[in-house]
Amino acid sequence: MVTLSINGHSVEVAAGSLLFDSAEVFGIQVPTSCRKQGKCKECVVEVAEGMDALSERTAAEAHLRGQFRLSCQARVLRDGVRCHTMRRANMRIERHAYGLPVGRFVGQAYVPGVPSGSTFSGGASVDANAGLVLDPAVTRRGESILLDGEEIARSTGPIHGLAMDLGTTTVVLRLFDLETGELIADTSFENPQRFGGSDVMSRIAYDEEHRGLLMRTLAGYLSRAIEGLPVDSRSIYELVVVGNSTMRDLFFGKSVYTIGQNPYRSITEIEMEAGARTSTSLVSDGRRSLLPIHPRARVYGLPILSGHVGADAAACMLAVDIANEDRLIAVMDIGTNTELILGNRHRILAASCPAGPAFEGGAISCGMPALEGAIEDVAIREDGSFELGVIGDGPAQGICGSGLVDLMSELLRTERMNSMGRFEDAGSIEVDAENGIRFLESDVNELAQAKGANVAGLQVIASAYGIDFEAIDVFYLAGGFGRHLKVDASRRIGLIPNLPDERIVQVGNAAIEGACLALLSRRERERLESLVKRVEHCRLETHPDFFDFFVEGCQFKAVESAHRVET
Ligand code: FES
Repeated sequence: MVTLSINGHSVEVAAGSLLFDSAEVFGIQVPTSCRKQGKCKECVVEVAEGMDALSERTAAEAHLRGQFRLSCQARVLRDGVRCHTMRRANMRIERHAYGLPVGRFVGQAYVPGVPSGSTFSGGASVDANAGLVLDPAVTRRGESILLDGEEIARSTGPIHGLAMDLGTTTVVLRLFDLETGELIADTSFENPQRFGGSDVMSRIAYDEEHRGLLMRTLAGYLSRAIEGLPVDSRSIYELVVVGNSTMRDLFFGKSVYTIGQNPYRSITEIEMEAGARTSTSLVSDGRRSLLPIHPRARVYGLPILSGHVGADAAACMLAVDIANEDRLIAVMDIGTNTELILGNRHRILAASCPAGPAFEGGAISCGMPALEGAIEDVAIREDGSFELGVIGDGPAQGICGSGLVDLMSELLRTERMNSMGRFEDAGSIEVDAENGIRFLESDVNELAQAKGANVAGLQVIASAYGIDFEAIDVFYLAGGFGRHLKVDASRRIGLIPNLPDERIVQVGNAAIEGACLALLSRRERERLESLVKRVEHCRLETHPDFFDFFVEGCQFKAVESAHRVET
């Protein structure tokens, strides 16, 4: 017998057992569509320890590298294997949005953007001043189910629609009744495409080598998520997809090669410029999507803005209602690729900053994603000891992005680190001796560069707009990382502009909110199609001051505008 650990459970199995079968001992369901034949590629597991205690890779695993194995191929030969499936149950996923500018009510039902400070209930509600009208593309006439007025099915059953935010790290789905606008269910999971790399550039490189495989694996996971919804999946007649340019194009089976090469453009942008299409939005149907929705359902990918500023950023524009804004607003979604939008109904600029994985815990010695065991809050007491907040309240295993921001802010405040990122006394700081968590000066360098790219993006976009930061009326921090940051700490280290609290809104998952609006309202969708064509794209790499902005932005101090507007 040998002992191994799967998803945190220890199990004893006969030597030579498949990882797949060992997982089933615990009732851990490994995704599969091929019944362990090595064909579907869905049963991937990540091996954290003990790769050499597993059998050799088989031909069916030729597409996998690093720590990833197919559990239907890998056999446990010796003790010491620690692995987990691609769907980690304890991943913190941002499913909701907060503090959006207007109440989002559709007919009789509430579209679930949650006002700042309140708790999501998912319940129905009515607003007499509703500005948004339920107007989906799928409607009914008697027994006919119509898509844009054309019959695609006959049924007396309900009509459903799905909105999806397809992120590099996570996937969020919301299911609606399209006749009432009611939110029926929502679900989320970690994007299993992680075996192709954790950021978009590695996924692009992976897709070049193994075309279609990332999408096929995701389709397996998505199918199971859709089948798990409390309705007949064939009553889903439309799916609206938002995601960054790479995730969206991969989902639609497009080549993403050009997004990975300077000047970083989606194939849809190139085709549009050549006159081969009129929009960067993408359309497919249920049959081609490989998903268990109605075969004649429409699958609609929102248009992208430009380059890496994708359909998720476009969806954010709908969610924050930029088309009706007179105020100057900024949206910043910090990630491996930070996206920025600045403007109002008169003029909109967008930019993307290649920040890298540091703020997601990548490339940092003690870094980890926002999973159970991650330190997310850090305070330094007067006696110099650390007070730590850990996700799940168990022993700390590492520090996630918001914890790293906190830690650096506290080190600055207590003068244990200077604005250049140098430590006062040594090259490393013991954060949690008991659990062996140390923070190194070399980690600070990685974070400084990620921050430098973000600040350079902010400076370029503000100077292109001809404003200083003071002119920004509302600064939305979008995305899961932005939601969990401490605003004070972020300002102190210079990750966000030095604006007062009342102008900063940690909006959460605004992209899924925008996807819902596009699903429920044709008018919103059309409005977005014309809005994205008005967005000006700022290319950071060609801006003459980019390098200076970057170097300045690598310092840990409050960010002030480089572009000063005389008043
Ligand atoms: S179960 Fe299909 S490849 Fe392993």
